[in-house]
Amino acid sequence: MNLSSCRRPGTQPQADSASRAGLGARAVLVAAAAVVCMTSACRQDMHNQAKYRPMRETPFFADHRSARPLVAGTIARGKLGEDKLLTTGRDGDKFSSIFPFPITADLVARGRERFNIYCSPCHGRTGEGRGMVVQRGYKQPPSFHDARLRDLGPGYFFNVITNGFGVMPGYAVQVPATDRWAITSYIRALQLSRNASVDDLTSEEKSRLTKESSGG
Ligand code: HEC
Repeated sequence: MNLSSCRRPGTQPQADSASRAGLGARAVLVAAAAVVCMTSACRQDMHNQAKYRPMRETPFFADHRSARPLVAGTIARGKLGEDKLLTTGRDGDKFSSIFPFPITADLVARGRERFNIYCSPCHGRTGEGRGMVVQRGYKQPPSFHDARLRDLGPGYFFNVITNGFGVMPGYAVQVPATDRWAITSYIRALQLSRNASVDDLTSEEKSRLTKESSGG
């Protein structure tokens, strides 16, 4: 413990004009101050420890930087990316026409939630591209219901969400890969919602539909 940092103003010994008796009295005072320091509010605990403040210089390393670069080959947890389809949406050098895992109702529901949070401010909740940000002057994106976008595979959408497109920023930092696929599945659901035909239904679904539409 560094006692000098605990001295109060006025307790500094003054060597020049002090008499022996005065010195003795001062020594007692300093000692008393030290005792008060040690037993009261002057505890230092771990406040004084060897550490570097962010971006501080250091003589320890040759380049004088205390902030060290990552060791070559370091991969952050969850960023290994060994599953290329899952993390890039690509199958070889083209965009994948399939999803990396089976699509469930839960995944589409998750996608709807994430879409409404991250995409609807510009693309609108139905994907037509008239979200609130666009209504206030941002570039209007194309509608997801355009024939061109309906014909593109899931890997294309995953890539746009991951890396951005034109003026649209990428969302890889905020939205993890599985959620980007979930959003992609929801975009597919939005597209289907306007372009499905009765022939896409299973016979069971067809008979349910006929029953419901005939009021049964
Ligand atoms: C800040 C507004 C904004 C947000 C938020 C946004 N986008 Fe976009 N998006 C755009 C704009 C603008 C374009 C058109 C970009 C251009 O042409 O320069 C676009 C284009 C697209 C395209 C079409 C690419 C093409 O080939 O035409 C897709 C697909 C898309 N966005 C998906 C998404 C998804 C999914 C999300 C949510 C994760 C999202 N966007 C979030 C503004 C946004």
